[in-house]
Amino acid sequence: MHISELSGLFRCLLAMMLLVSAADCACASETDLGRAAAPDEIAAIDISITPDGEGLPPGNGDAVAGKTIYTRKCASCHAEDGQGKPADRLAGGIGSLDSDTPVKTVGSFWPYATILFDYIRRAMPLNAPLSLTDDEVYAVTAYLLAINGIVATNQTLDAESLPAVRMPNRDGFIDRSGVQ
Ligand code: HEC
Repeated sequence: MHISELSGLFRCLLAMMLLVSAADCACASETDLGRAAAPDEIAAIDISITPDGEGLPPGNGDAVAGKTIYTRKCASCHAEDGQGKPADRLAGGIGSLDSDTPVKTVGSFWPYATILFDYIRRAMPLNAPLSLTDDEVYAVTAYLLAINGIVATNQTLDAESLPAVRMPNRDGFIDRSGVQ
């Protein structure tokens, strides 16, 4: 094929793509389906927290307060002291990941403390997600970190101190993005 035919072909393809996307836009604006989400509706589900802590809300809590919440709202599934059963074990196993008997817990495996806050806030307790206040989430996060020996029992966690917590497995992940 001659080079000028090739570029003609590309021009044609480009024109077709533009037509398709123009048609998409026309369809979207012509339907009467749905409505724009209101800002408060978006805010209620826009609760993602980045590993470096962006998005953490005001509030705070420590492991002492967290233990009370854990006993009332978490222990029925995760057992006393996060030992697990019927649901996941939440404490221990630090340093075991490269052994023959790896124990994966939030303490031994998770690379950032901030995502523990995010996970608990959006998903736990399993039977009542999004029911904890932000202070309660900080407190129960502090409790789980304390029973893993990662923070002191009296350390208060908030939007500043939580991102500064260094998780034991922070450098245990291998970047395989360049691997074929
Ligand atoms: C009704 C049972 C139930 C209750 C109550 C409950 N959880 Fe869970 N939790 C689960 C189950 C089941 C999973 C695993 C979910 C999955 O893998 O999708 C889980 C997973 C977790 C994990 C992630 C564990 C991991 O290694 O991936 C954390 C952290 C956690 N729960 C914290 C809590 C906290 C904190 C509370 C109390 C506020 C709580 N859970 C209450 C059932 C429960």
